Amino acid sequence: MCGIVGYVGNKRAQDVVIEGLRRLEYRGYDSAGIALVHEGTIEWRKRAGKLANLEKALAEAPLPGASTGIGHTRWATHGAPTDLNAHPHLGNSGRVALVHNGIIENFASLRAEVEAAGDDLLSETDTEIAAHLLESALERCGNLTEAMQQVCQVLEGAFTIVAIDAQDPSRVVAARRNSPLVVGLGEGENFIGSDVAAFIEHTREALELGQDQIVTITRDDVSVIGFDGAPAEGKPYHVDWDLSAAEKDGYDWFMRKEIFEQPRAIGDALLGRHDANGRLQLDEVRISDDDLRQVDKIIIIACGTAFYAGLVAKYAIEHWTRIPCEVELAHEFRYRDPILTRSTLVVAISQSGETADTLMAIRHARQQRSKVLAICNTNGSTIPRESDAVIYTHAGPEIGVASTKGFITQVIAAYLLGLYLAQVKGTSYGEEVAGVVAELRDMPDHVQRILDDADELYALAAELKDTKSVLFLGRHVGFPIALEGALKLKELAYIHAEGFAAGELKHGPIALIEPGMPVFCVLPPRGRDQLHDKMISAIQEIRARGARTIVLAEDDDLEAAAYADTLIKLPRVSTLLQAVPAVVPLQLFACELATLLGHDVDQPRNLAKSVTVE
Ligand code: F6R
Repeated sequence: MCGIVGYVGNKRAQDVVIEGLRRLEYRGYDSAGIALVHEGTIEWRKRAGKLANLEKALAEAPLPGASTGIGHTRWATHGAPTDLNAHPHLGNSGRVALVHNGIIENFASLRAEVEAAGDDLLSETDTEIAAHLLESALERCGNLTEAMQQVCQVLEGAFTIVAIDAQDPSRVVAARRNSPLVVGLGEGENFIGSDVAAFIEHTREALELGQDQIVTITRDDVSVIGFDGAPAEGKPYHVDWDLSAAEKDGYDWFMRKEIFEQPRAIGDALLGRHDANGRLQLDEVRISDDDLRQVDKIIIIACGTAFYAGLVAKYAIEHWTRIPCEVELAHEFRYRDPILTRSTLVVAISQSGETADTLMAIRHARQQRSKVLAICNTNGSTIPRESDAVIYTHAGPEIGVASTKGFITQVIAAYLLGLYLAQVKGTSYGEEVAGVVAELRDMPDHVQRILDDADELYALAAELKDTKSVLFLGRHVGFPIALEGALKLKELAYIHAEGFAAGELKHGPIALIEPGMPVFCVLPPRGRDQLHDKMISAIQEIRARGARTIVLAEDDDLEAAAYADTLIKLPRVSTLLQAVPAVVPLQLFACELATLLGHDVDQPRNLAKSVTVE
């Protein structure tokens, strides 16, 4: 949700900033802009649309060389995605330039103040107000850091702000509240970014900032203070992935690359999770085993695809631990007065670790004294920092806006959590836990085999290119996978798609079935609670009404072929674990169909990667 870059150093700032914006563009792509400090003035360009539009403008009218600058790629909140509303925004006399991510909630009253002071506002944004306030404060105190501190005290809401002063090329100043910001530590240069992708080609040393902090970077120094002016310190860390992980590696889309990385990602998510005696260990879980034994209810909170990972987790956690487990959309949970006690464990799932809805729900849970455990992919992000414990998913950077390896590793981490709780509570015998862990270790190979057959799914996508509507059915963990398959198709191919619990079909949705309508059916493995047979009945019901069935079934399930217009083979795994292989064909199908339709798969319309506003 908006990408922000800042740079001071010895290189051409325009190059560093534009390269950083390119790597952050997945966060928002409604407009892009850059501002540099050059000989006592601010030089800037900004354009509506993707970064390419800004690059074209820069090619037509190059900016002067400068070594201090800021940049922004926008996901619009206040004001339409136009040139005027694009960031950076300048103060009244053009001394200050500022970029912003987030929403300033007291924007209306501040706007009235700024207008009453006689300033001219050019845009509809909340950001421009902050630029005017910052410039006025700077005129009074003469120091950008101090001015930022004054302004942050009057701003309400969520914001990351990065600013430069035309009269001081030596520094870039940034502030954060409820919105992401990291510092890149270089030699003779320093960086600001919404995340480390902004500067990963220059340095892998980073500094994590706390809430309500201001950082000032110069070529040779980084200093941090609180909004109250008190000296503060960031937390240094080393980024454990490099530039190549943030590049496409020969694939047409980041998303396709990330789908194909899943065997490796699953392997990494499982690494180091058991001790020499085969007992599971989750090092990052800083909640004591005694506290975990007291847990009598689990509530999983998340949004979008991460929510579906939570739905899968519920089946596994309840089965292994016998602890009641609810799953709720974070934004609904936060504002409905949920029942939380000290013995409730709240599990927050988030790939980015910055989703505002999930973050607000976590804060609410902790205020009620529940313990919060995060399942997260992004080291140093806000959600794990504000949780009592974290299980990192180790998927590596996910750049494609639609989550794929993020989802699959969330599911793996949730399985590990369920097994760990079962081990601690003694609800599952050691051998059972070890057996599931052994099965999980085979997952990379299973997923690899599905990926090796991708061409079949691509051919199916080509056949169904003109379809207007697709349904997805599943039972048990196949139900959230059906929801996820539908979400992927909606967000990437802009096709109407819906996922249903197969048993629910006859209660209404079956009326949607028309002759020829494609319906993906996730068929559970044979042998558990008649799930398989019940699903076959649902498939028969829709075939009787002319649906075209695409059945995902175990590869030796001979019965399945009789009910499938197209059969997609899945490896033989236990029922609870089928979510992992079953999602992969649906990801491949959506990615390919969107590609064939000519859509931008990595940056679908209206979306952004990390949703940092509520
Ligand atoms: C869909 C997708 C989103 C995210 C959701 C939560 O493909 O990626 O639905 O899953 O916005 O994001 P995180 O996991 O970063 O909290």
